Amino acid sequence: MDRIKIIGGNQLNGVIPISGAKNAALPLMIASLLTDDTLTLENLPDLADVEQLIRILGNHGVDYSVKGRRERQGDAYSRTVSFTARHIVNTEAPYNLVSKMRASFWVVGPLLARMGVARVSLPGGCAIGTRPVDLFIDGLRALGAEIDIDNGYVNATAKSGLVGNRFVFPKVSVGATHVMLMAASLAKGETVLENVAREPEVVNLAECLNAMGARISGAGTGTINIDGVETLSGARHRVIPDRIETGTYAMAVAMTGGDVLLEGAKPELLQAALDTLARTGTNIEPTKTGIRVSRNGNGLQPVDIETQPFPGFPTDLQAQFMGLMTMASGTSHIKETIFENRFMHVQELARLGAQISLSGQTAVVEGVASLKGAPVMATDLRASVSLVIAGLVAEGETEVNRVYHLDRGFERLEEKLSGCGASIERLSG
Ligand code: UD1
Repeated sequence: MDRIKIIGGNQLNGVIPISGAKNAALPLMIASLLTDDTLTLENLPDLADVEQLIRILGNHGVDYSVKGRRERQGDAYSRTVSFTARHIVNTEAPYNLVSKMRASFWVVGPLLARMGVARVSLPGGCAIGTRPVDLFIDGLRALGAEIDIDNGYVNATAKSGLVGNRFVFPKVSVGATHVMLMAASLAKGETVLENVAREPEVVNLAECLNAMGARISGAGTGTINIDGVETLSGARHRVIPDRIETGTYAMAVAMTGGDVLLEGAKPELLQAALDTLARTGTNIEPTKTGIRVSRNGNGLQPVDIETQPFPGFPTDLQAQFMGLMTMASGTSHIKETIFENRFMHVQELARLGAQISLSGQTAVVEGVASLKGAPVMATDLRASVSLVIAGLVAEGETEVNRVYHLDRGFERLEEKLSGCGASIERLSG
């Protein structure tokens, strides 16, 4: 199993190109199931989760082709991939595929909308809380689907098609919003979705669906209106830059000091996180080509945060921010409100010398003067990268195990960091 070895202490200086967003790419790829025409996605990141979803979609009959190789110039880290679901050959998504990635459960929406039937295993995915699927089931039922659960599978049918309706989400869910957008696009009549997720990835999906012929308005606000259409066509659409990758590298620079341009990053996708970083004493400067992040000399101020749905501070940056706060000059409070079990990085950060105590859903972080390298491992994607951030300043050697978590969501992590001066390398085996 691959490991990442880091020798801490180097500042980061240079340019880091930001990849296409994993969390936008996945629902966009799934949207290809809605049409027999070709959906071409630009700026698709090269990640283990994307590869896994390609396998899952292939099981339903989606063909794909990669246009253009990745070159280390110009549009550096992007690739363009076309997906065509000419015929859906299988409306079942089995446990052995869905259990590897929670987002693959979302195929339930397009399969049901296009084929009138879907049998999808209940999901697995990151070990961060129970993550139920009640909102998906209630939402699809509101569109007229009949749903039962047996042997760990969700069986959904809508023999005469889905029918538009009003549905109020009792809780904000990114995934359930994606699924309802896709399903309602092919439902008969109008659907009104209230208390929807406002994440940029939802807007990116809605824009793609509209390019395919859907009639969606209001994405990015709390209420979305969808006028159902009979069929959708192909389209060409661009994946937005990854705001979580952007925030992660911004925090890495805040941690090590130095001066880095996050090329292609868009500040409006993560304003809350950038504002928080500015309060720690980090300089954040939007430029024409991205976001410049620097910290020279001054210490890190402690800042309290609470994770919230967009536009609040993202839960997917909570672990990284905690990594940063381990070196602040004082005490910070980090409250997790989205997932109930998302503090697995705390024990591992402690192995590096961090002082963190948990009180319910709040972590109290006492900044320390220095961290010390150690072997660590993490059980989810964002937790793993928080250990990398801490390792970049920890004295001596930090070895991050279970690198496959990082490969799920960070494209060429060690290449991007070492390109800016970090001592980081992948050890295989
Ligand atoms: C997506 C992101 C993930 C991010 C999360 C929150 C992708 C691929 N993943 O995950 O990185 O951390 O949004 O920003 O885009 N919930 C229910 N019932 C449901 C569905 C969700 O109670 O049927 C709960 C969840 O347990 C959680 C909360 O709602 O507590 C938010 O989850 P949700 O927004 O659905 O997360 P995902 O879409 O899975």
